[in-house]
Amino acid sequence: MILTLVMVLALIALRATPAEKQYRPGRWFILGGGVLFPVVILTALLIYGFEIDYPLFRGESEPMNIEVTGHQWWWEVRYPGGGGAEVVTANEIHIPVGRTVRINVRSADVIHSFWVPRLGGKQDAIPGHENSLDLHADQPGAFRGQCAEFCGAQHAHMAF
Ligand code: CUA
Repeated sequence: MILTLVMVLALIALRATPAEKQYRPGRWFILGGGVLFPVVILTALLIYGFEIDYPLFRGESEPMNIEVTGHQWWWEVRYPGGGGAEVVTANEIHIPVGRTVRINVRSADVIHSFWVPRLGGKQDAIPGHENSLDLHADQPGAFRGQCAEFCGAQHAHMAF
């Protein structure tokens, strides 16, 4: 919109007769268009930007961590809790919507690969080594995961 206004003003200036070019706008035009208008618009944009970014400042800089261990042929899932409390499940991971979750992936036996196609890329689960991967679900739903590295006879059934 501002671009259009500037283009229209530029066109008017280009087509002006020499007599019209003698016109000098008043001080109100300079102060209004050059100071007041930008200050109001930029302040409004700044407030709007803070509103959008506010969730980032509310202690969400640290992602939630979930420990996942691949076994032949199932997934062990540990949710570290406060004060040493821990919840352990298998083949099912529950994550909050709209928040980044860091999955720390390990293996108890052979190489597996942690993969939730609709939420992110693959991450290998390697014995004796920890890898991590960030998942972020924008909408609620059930997202199928699958081991993506051949790990033995029941590999195809290693879903979550
Ligand atoms: Cu585990 Cu394939």
